[in-house]
Amino acid sequence: MHIEFSRISPGDAESLADFLAGEEWPYHAGTQDRETVRRRAAEGLYDDAETRTFWVLADGERAGLVKLQDLADDTPMFDLRVRHSWRGRGIGTQAVAWLTGYLFGELPAITRIEGTTRQDNHAMRAVFRKNGYAKESHYRESWPTPDGTCYDAVGYAILRRDWISGTVTLPNWADESLT
Ligand SMILES: CC(C)(COP(=O)(O)OP(=O)(O)OC[C@H]1O[C@@H](n2cnc3c(N)ncnc32)[C@H](O)[C@@H]1OP(=O)(O)O)[C@@H](O)C(=O)NCCC(=O)NCCS
Repeated sequence: MHIEFSRISPGDAESLADFLAGEEWPYHAGTQDRETVRRRAAEGLYDDAETRTFWVLADGERAGLVKLQDLADDTPMFDLRVRHSWRGRGIGTQAVAWLTGYLFGELPAITRIEGTTRQDNHAMRAVFRKNGYAKESHYRESWPTPDGTCYDAVGYAILRRDWISGTVTLPNWADESLT
């Protein structure tokens, strides 16, 4: 399978609406309707000074979407979605490898990249780990859902120096004794 990443263009509003409103997105708050996506695209919310969005093209087909966020901050974050029919084939893993290199290359001042997901999103957590992201945070019952269940949220990040050296530096979780 050939994977490419292609930045969205101003004419992509309908394609974004097809993608984002076309299926349920688990681990995301609510489903966006087509009109909301069109309006957000018209407002430039998918591509502006702080945000860049890319199609993940698998053999030329729009299989996923990568949204890079908070690009003006010290630590960018991202949202990644792979369409249901394309999951489990390594696309998510390749997308995070690509976006990590892209962000560290495009933004020379940043030293880290962060991502957050729900505790039970095992696929996304595997994607983080496979790309050298270390678990840095765990917020209990901080992710409410419409059915009333409150899940834990977990945060991962990669340091530029770890990315360069190919290592994973874990936080010092045993630091309570130092205080
Ligand atoms: C999370 C997501 C991006 C992963 O993309 P993907 O292309 O399916 O991921 P990959 O094929 O690269 O698989 C990554 C790993 O997850 C593992 N995995 C997949 N589903 C899993 C599950 N239910 N439980 C445990 N591991 C799982 C795979 O086995 C793989 O690890 P391996 O290569 O060691 O076997 C995709 O499932 C998705 O878009 N989900 C819905 C939206 C979402 O959750 N986005 C993330 C929001 S933070």
